[in-house]
Amino acid sequence: MSIVEKHRVIEKNATLLFAGSLFVVAIGGIVEIAPLFYLENTIEKVEGMRPYSPLELAGRDIYIREGCYTCHSQMIRPFRDEVERYGHYSLAAESMYDHPFQWGSKRTGPDLARVGGRYSDEWHVQHLIEPRSVVPESVMPSYAFLKDKKLDVSDFATHLIAQQAVGVPYTEEMVANAQADILAQADPDADTTDLLARYPKAKTGDFDGNPNALTEMDALVAYLQMLGTLVDFSTYDETAGYR
Ligand code: HEC
Repeated sequence: MSIVEKHRVIEKNATLLFAGSLFVVAIGGIVEIAPLFYLENTIEKVEGMRPYSPLELAGRDIYIREGCYTCHSQMIRPFRDEVERYGHYSLAAESMYDHPFQWGSKRTGPDLARVGGRYSDEWHVQHLIEPRSVVPESVMPSYAFLKDKKLDVSDFATHLIAQQAVGVPYTEEMVANAQADILAQADPDADTTDLLARYPKAKTGDFDGNPNALTEMDALVAYLQMLGTLVDFSTYDETAGYR
């Protein structure tokens, strides 16, 4: 039987043809999928990335609770117009500790991936209290109540443990100090040496303009002020991952 005749047998038998097709397609599938099971991480390591400090994590929880993501994305695409407006395009590593990630595609407001350090704390507080007092044409809702809501820090270590469960590398030391760290970061008089050793580049001080109370506004502004600030793009080598 010639090869053409052999092939004709397969072509004329639907079951054989189906089984054969499945076999061929499966090879491609296995080659692509199998490595993902034994590769621990497919995200390129980038210097500067660290898990969120407890206060930033609390701020991120508020960001999600308040649905900020329904109007804001956190993903700068590698297009010239985006890079010129927002800064260096987002790296996969920059959201590796985000569970769930906040990339999004709905932009009623601007992308926030690099908003950290762009405005003062006072600007953020004023903008969150009444957006139209700083940007007259804004359609963003007011979040003034955050300034009066005490931040719930009871048992905060459990938040870090929950993040550990989904793969964020919080150490036992970080968990043990979660409560102390969350208080220290927003206290202008606190000794923040240990906090900064655990969470380099964390912004510290009084965020909401009221040093006597730790509020949800403190946490949200601490979170906004660190967004996109961990990787130093003046030293980041874009081609390093491809060599
Ligand atoms: C209904 C849509 C909407 C929601 C919800 C919303 N925003 Fe906005 N946001 C906007 C718009 C529109 C702007 C641009 C005008 C302005 O600056 O107010 C904006 C601007 C901003 C800016 C300034 C960004 C820049 O680069 O100038 C920040 C920071 C911000 N929003 C944070 C938040 C946070 C935090 C929340 C949740 C607590 C939130 N937004 C919820 C629509 C929204």
